[in-house]
Amino acid sequence: DLHPEFLALWLDAVTFLFSARMIWGLDLKQEPSTRGGSRTMPKFSFNLLIGDIRDGYRFLREQPVVRAMTVGIVMAFAGVGAVISLGPIFARYSLHAGSAGFGYLVIAFGLGMGAGMATSNFFVRIVEKDRLFYGAMFGAALSLFLFAAMPAITWAAFFAVPMGIGVGLTWVTGYTMLQENVTDEFRGRTFATLTISARMTLFLALVVFPALAVIIGDHTVTVAGETLDLSGSRLALYVGGLVVILAGMLSKGGLKKSRLTRLRPLALVPKFRKMERSGIFIVFEGVEGAGKGTQIELARQYLASKGRDVVVTREPGGTGFGDRLRDAILDAATGKVDPRAEALVFAASRAHLVSTVIRPALAEGKVVLCDRFVDSSIAYQGVARGLGEQDILTLNAWATQGLFPDLVILLQVDPEESLAREPGRSDRFESEDLTFHNKVSEAYLKIAEEHPERFQVIDASGTRDEVQVRVREALDRIFEPSEP
Ligand code: TYD
Repeated sequence: DLHPEFLALWLDAVTFLFSARMIWGLDLKQEPSTRGGSRTMPKFSFNLLIGDIRDGYRFLREQPVVRAMTVGIVMAFAGVGAVISLGPIFARYSLHAGSAGFGYLVIAFGLGMGAGMATSNFFVRIVEKDRLFYGAMFGAALSLFLFAAMPAITWAAFFAVPMGIGVGLTWVTGYTMLQENVTDEFRGRTFATLTISARMTLFLALVVFPALAVIIGDHTVTVAGETLDLSGSRLALYVGGLVVILAGMLSKGGLKKSRLTRLRPLALVPKFRKMERSGIFIVFEGVEGAGKGTQIELARQYLASKGRDVVVTREPGGTGFGDRLRDAILDAATGKVDPRAEALVFAASRAHLVSTVIRPALAEGKVVLCDRFVDSSIAYQGVARGLGEQDILTLNAWATQGLFPDLVILLQVDPEESLAREPGRSDRFESEDLTFHNKVSEAYLKIAEEHPERFQVIDASGTRDEVQVRVREALDRIFEPSEP
């Protein structure tokens, strides 16, 4: 009854005993050392510890995000240290709350901290993590200022709650961001540096802030007849708040710098531009030697004879810039090209062609006949080169800003047969082996099957005129509804 706090201290002693008993049971010598791959146990030495810390700091210097987070968390610990060390005196003498006063403050703070940690998942969904990190720090500092200004324990306890929420959020977001930004190789060192620095700062704060309170001393000021209590502990708490603000500002600055270099997935979301599209966009696709060139010319004559205003273009190329890209990407002298580079070149040529030739022609109500388009890229780069259909589609939907043909005429021939039709031509694609061309051919058929609304598969074996009859049928079908 005389000293109820003894119970708590005894319980504390029991936890030490428990830990000692647990560790006693472990056979630590059996564990191979992980340091440097050597199997001998490292000698415990202070130098080793210092070396680790030095490694940790060197790493921090090179990693802006990690540095910003570590500095923030460590300085926030100084703020916590200020509250822990000054709290009892503050509660007793400035808030006149007796010896139990600090207990209330701790409970309020603890509840807030728990709530902050528990709700962090919710907050990261509405605020970006780095903003949440320093925002929570500023919130905690603001609460600390209010806390330190209060005249009575109830009000101080009230503001201890948001202070706890801020600290809890800072801790969880800081810790998560560190985890996300550190590779496995550096994880150990980063967290060791963080833990050691945070503890050292905490201990330092436990000494410095009470000393500061003594040095500042107790003051009272009278403003308009009211006496304000400006005790040393109150003023030292304000200093603690300033330290946390400084921490928030440093983190904010550091994170802002790194924001610019952080990788994010490309959005590549096309802006589906609304356009008056009175024209009709027809694309011819097929493997090499399927006879697209010839059939397009015949189709042009046919449509022109029906009074249509026809524009013929081709890919890659069709523009000055596009033709330069075409030369570079098709020339066998170019040699092997990284598939991604290849896909980007076709997309680049296409983007320029769409915006400078195809869209304007469609806007004027013309019929655009194009030799190859997005489906070439899907078949060649997406499937045959193995980049994936979805990525190529996404890239090209962005490049064309969502322009897709009204009709794709797929001239279907067996690659073995069609390659034999044009011997002697050997650009970078024609010199690919038969397996490659078979892949392209199968990819075309698959895409056509998946998009019956825009594809017409036409048997391209037979004479030029036989195939033209089939092409005309397909053309008639698309023009018929609007034909008088
Ligand atoms: P081209 O001479 O037009 O071939 P073809 O005479 O067979 O139509 O050359 C275009 C080549 O570029 C062709 O082999 C296919 C390839 N290509 C792609 O790989 N991806 C694309 O997006 C485009 C438009 C073409």
